Amino acid sequence: MTNNIRKVVFPVAGLGTRFLPATKAVPKEMLPVVDRPLIQYAAEEAVAAGAKELIFITRSGKQEIEDHFDANYELQSELAKSGKDELLKMVNEVLPEDVSCVFVRQPQALGLGHAVLCAKHVVGDDPFGIILPDDLIDGGETPCLAQMAAIFAEQGNSLVAVEAVAHEDTDKYGIVDAERPRGRLARMKGIVEKPAPADAPSTMGVVGRYLLTPRIFQLLEETTPGSGGEIQLTDAIARLLEEEGVMAYSFAGKRYDCGTKLGFLQANVEYALKHPKLGEEFRDYLQTLTY
Ligand code: UTP
Repeated sequence: MTNNIRKVVFPVAGLGTRFLPATKAVPKEMLPVVDRPLIQYAAEEAVAAGAKELIFITRSGKQEIEDHFDANYELQSELAKSGKDELLKMVNEVLPEDVSCVFVRQPQALGLGHAVLCAKHVVGDDPFGIILPDDLIDGGETPCLAQMAAIFAEQGNSLVAVEAVAHEDTDKYGIVDAERPRGRLARMKGIVEKPAPADAPSTMGVVGRYLLTPRIFQLLEETTPGSGGEIQLTDAIARLLEEEGVMAYSFAGKRYDCGTKLGFLQANVEYALKHPKLGEEFRDYLQTLTY
């Protein structure tokens, strides 16, 4: 697949309050779905979209994310010594060799928009992807960001991934106002952060995948704190769509909101059922449970 998305930003500097107490000392991005932490699924999705540079926006207490993508010489030498080749391969292949990681600190939790702005000097003048790792998306053969990269390569407009959300939940999402869709794509007319159900322009909610042109950085620099007193990515996208056009993309696949306890549990059950080694045994186990 041809595309030019070489850099993907992972804003992971949030506090993860909805998942306390689990996230008191462990970053939510390190919570495992079956056998891999959420951040690993996100990194694999970025790599599948062509990314060569992964840019993590972090804060204090998120060291484990950096450690996960770094070498662990003690573990590697122990596994090699004891001939645990399969496990060693798994540890060594956390990322392909030609993919590098950059870690940038967000000095204060001023919001998602501010976190993205912290990546400006690393991203430079290229279009780039954003993945929020707590939105785990099973896109099947073509993961969500790769779907978006293919569309971007064809039409060049920024894209945000959307899905229909419950009417009563509009105040949990960025909500899109869009023209009539053509297939999975709809030209956006507006976007508003966390509107009350009565004020929402639609029930199309933005989920954690974006593919943006670098113009967003100038717009973020001019963005003042909005909803919740935070610098909102949504507000900068609202300006981007007036200047350049932004498309809402109804992705193919299933999203699990792993920032919430229920979504995280659903992801674990469904990924376990699909797991090549565990799936069958886990299905048998579930069938022994009485409800
Ligand atoms: P969330 O709204 O999910 O916030 O942020 P959170 O802190 O992660 O979790 P809760 O709501 O307290 O449970 C959306 C994304 O933006 C990042 C978060 O890490 C998450 O990936 N973020 C948010 C930052 O990187 N910096 C911020 O200042 C705010």
